[in-house]
Order: sequence, then structure tokens, then C-alpha cells
Amino acid sequence: MPSPELPSRPLSDDPPPQNSRLLAVVLWLILVGGLAALPMVWPADGVERSTLAQFFGRFHPLVLHFPIALLAIVPLMELAGLFERGRSIRSAAGFVLTLGAISTVAASVLGWLLAWAGGYAGDLVNQHMWFGCTLSLVSLLAVLLRRVWTNRGWWSVGVFYLPTLLAALGLMTWTAHQGGQLTHGEKFLEEHMPAPVRDWLGLPAPAPKKKPVAAAASHATPSVSGTAVESGGTAPAELSFFHDRIMPALDRTCVSCHNPNKIKGGLRMDTYAELMKGGESGAAVVPGNLEESELYRRITLPHDDEEFMPSGGKKPLSEEETRLIEQWIKAGASETAPLSAFGLKATPPAPVVVVKPTAPDHRSHAAVIHAWEKAWGLRLVPVSQVPTDGLILRTASAPSRCTNEALAGLAALADLVVDAELARTRVTDAGMPALAACHSLRRIDLTQTAVTSKGVKALEGLKSLEQLNLTGTGVDEAGLSVFRSRSDLRIYAAHTAASAP
Ligand code: HEC
Repeated sequence: MPSPELPSRPLSDDPPPQNSRLLAVVLWLILVGGLAALPMVWPADGVERSTLAQFFGRFHPLVLHFPIALLAIVPLMELAGLFERGRSIRSAAGFVLTLGAISTVAASVLGWLLAWAGGYAGDLVNQHMWFGCTLSLVSLLAVLLRRVWTNRGWWSVGVFYLPTLLAALGLMTWTAHQGGQLTHGEKFLEEHMPAPVRDWLGLPAPAPKKKPVAAAASHATPSVSGTAVESGGTAPAELSFFHDRIMPALDRTCVSCHNPNKIKGGLRMDTYAELMKGGESGAAVVPGNLEESELYRRITLPHDDEEFMPSGGKKPLSEEETRLIEQWIKAGASETAPLSAFGLKATPPAPVVVVKPTAPDHRSHAAVIHAWEKAWGLRLVPVSQVPTDGLILRTASAPSRCTNEALAGLAALADLVVDAELARTRVTDAGMPALAACHSLRRIDLTQTAVTSKGVKALEGLKSLEQLNLTGTGVDEAGLSVFRSRSDLRIYAAHTAASAP
């Protein structure tokens, strides 16, 4: 009874396999119970344990790639079986699935070992463990159901096996994502996500990057573009030395390993209270006593000392930061002692830079823009995805269509146009007043047009103008003289009377 399509039961059917089946079920139940027990009985509680357990646990990041690849390939192998030539591929799917399930169990056990022994803690770690164990169970179930399918025939496949396999894939994706969040930070995927995808997923806009306070203090010059506005800020008297000078340094250098999700050495440094609680070896900070303060000892050891902090070759605290910590501990390690108690002034609050929109939002003028484009066969193109960045008047595809009348037709859209590409068009001096009405204009290109000094003078009032290209026009010195005082304006006047020697 050769069945070339799907290899099924063991070759000899004679001894009723009751006993071995029972054994399999018992083994399976033990495995299921054991896996579920791991995160339940021994959750990741932030306490570091046996180094040997940690050693093995650290193979988790290596092993976890096997189930990802193996499970992902199973549905492809099953699909291949739909085609004549893919039959043999599908007959191996059961083997790959079994390997995948076994490696899932291995990755789960190692992952649990890493979390339990490695001082991890927190909701994300524990959830990740639960998902990992559930994934193992679901993949084992898929192995079982596939056997049922191959033994009992097609009717069971759609009902049991396929949904289970898909569930395993879904669980795997989510578990892997959580693992990624644990190693790279929770916002890793989100950080550079394009805005449309972010909107579609309903994620909030990214928070603006915070400057480390210590760094901001040394070069607090606001960016030049736009208007700088003083923000309200906290009353300087209330700023504490700890929060203004110590915490930002710890945040940058230490908190990545000493936080609620990863409590290395049993020490959390994400809040003042946790820091003062200390770690496994007792107090990290003893107010007023540098010698007794483990934290100070750790940061002042030689950098190659095993106990030096931050460990793992991370960028150490600067000398200045170390000195501040010394000062702070000596003075009693208070959370609230103000900066003035240390003879320091508050870091001025970072100025809020209000960038003025370049032009009004063009979206509400869509109908007018479209009508103008149609009437003249020219284009008004947004500068960027920011709707207040203005429009570019684009004529390159048909410069001859752009006339003084087309410019006059822009009246209703005048303040939206920031860039007028008028090179080789038919505009003349008579069209310049219409152009001058577009007072958001930053750039105008009049290369090889009939424009002369007379027309150019009309553009004098364009205060935002940054670039004016008059190459090959009839402009002379007199025309340029009106812009003499504008140091921010770049004028190109090659091949004109003004450029003649
Ligand atoms: C790369 C991870 C990592 C970083 C970053 C790190 N630590 Fe640690 N820290 C550890 C580990 C692991 C231990 C436990 C092993 C040990 O005691 O050396 C520890 C232990 C400690 C302890 C001893 C806790 C106790 O009670 O035993 C102190 C104090 C400490 N760190 C301070 C710091 C300070 C201060 C920084 C920042 C300057 C820092 N750590 C940055 C990994 C890190």
C-alpha cells in the first residue's frame, strides 16, 4: 500500500499503537505543563541568578532565528504541494514543521533562562515569555494536527491544521516583534516610520528629540531660522540639582541596563527613589559618604576594571558628570536641593523655535489651483508634503504657454507660490506687477525672458525673495541697484548688460 503522496503511519500497522500513543500524550502533557509553568512559577523578577543559567540563556538570541525561518517556510512547502512538481516538497513539510516546533521549544526555554537568571523584569519581558511559550504549544499542536491530517485525510486540514499553522505564524510574528522591542527599544520600528504608515496604524506622532540637558547648557544657541520665543519654563528656583544635572547623565549612561525591564545587579536607576533603594549589594548611594557609595566607586574605577560602570564598553560618564555626582553625594544626595545650593544657575529652558509657515495651506485651494492649471496648461506643484511649504510654478514642459495673462490669473493664489520657474517663458515687464503680488516668493527664475530693468524694479517689495535669476535678460546696472541693500538675496545676472565689463 504505497502512498507516494503523503507518507503516513509507521510501516507495520499490526501492534495496536495504544501504548505508544498514550506515552506520546503523557509526554506532550508534561511538555505543555512544563512550558506553561516556566513563566508562571519562575517569572522574570529582576533578580540575577546563576551565571551558568545566564550563559545558556544568552544563546536565546541565536536559537530564536531557527523557529522564525523554519515555521515561515512551512506554509510555502504546503502550497508547493498544490502543484504536481511540488509534491515531494510538501512531503518534507512535516519534517520542517517538527524541527520548527522543537526549535521553538528550545528558544522558549533558553529565553526563559535568560530572563529569569539575567535580571530581566517588567511587563514586556513577561508578556514576551508568555507569547513564546504559547507559540511553542501552538506549533506542537500544528505538528500533531498535521499527522492527523496525513493519517485521516483531507477533511481535517481546513478545519484544524491550517488555522493552527496560521495562528502559529501570527504568534511568531508578534513574539519576534516583542523580542525586537526588548533589545532595540519599544519604539525601534516606529522611529523612522513614514508618516502615512504611522497614521494608518493610528500611532501618535513621534515626540521631538530631547537634548541631554548637560549638552544643551554648553551650546544653547537656538537655531537661526524662524522666530525664537522664550517658553514659560520652570521657575529656576525650583529646579533641583539632581533632576537638572545628575538624572540626565544617568539616563543617558546607566538607565539602559538599570530600569524596570532590565534590573542589572538588582539596581534600578530610572527614578530617585529606586536609585536610593540600592541593588543586590546594598545601597548604591550613601548620602554624604563617597567611600561607602557603591555607585561612585563603580564609576571611578579604571575603565578596564570588570566592575567599572557603565559595563559592556558603553560610553562612560564624562569627567564633568563624574565630578557633579561626587559633589551631589557629598552634599547629601538630595532629590530636591536646588541648583543654587551648588552655586549653579538653572540651565535656561531650551528656546521654542516657532517656524513660520512659508505659505498658507494650499489644500483648501485645490479647486482654484486645478482650474488655473487647466486654463494655462502649466503646473503648480507642492514644494513638499508639508502643505504650508507653498507651490512651485512649473513651466518647463511648455514655457511658451506662460504669459503675462497666466501670471495675472494667479491673483487668487498669489500667496501660495514660493518658487516661480519662468525661464524662457513669454512673460515681460508688464507681467512683473502680477508676479510681485506673490509676496511669499523665495525664488524667481527669469532666465532668457524679455524682462528688463523696468520690470525687475517691481520685484523690489518681495521681502522673502532669496534667489533671482536674470541670466540672459535685458537687465542692466540700474535694474539691479534696487537690490543693493539686500545681502540675503542672491542674484544671477550672467549674459546681461549688468555683467558686461
Ligand atoms: C551594559 C549594561 C550596564 C550599564 C550601561 C550600566 N550597568 Fe551597572 N550593572 C550592570 C550589571 C550587569 C551589573 C551586575 C554585575 C556587577 O555587579 O558588576 C551592574 C551593577 C551595578 C551596580 C551594583 C549594584 C549592586 O547592588 O550590586 C551599580 C552601583 C551600578 N551597576 C551602577 C551603574 C552606573 C552608575 C551606571 C552608569 C554610569 C551603570 N551601572 C551602567 C550592567 C550595566
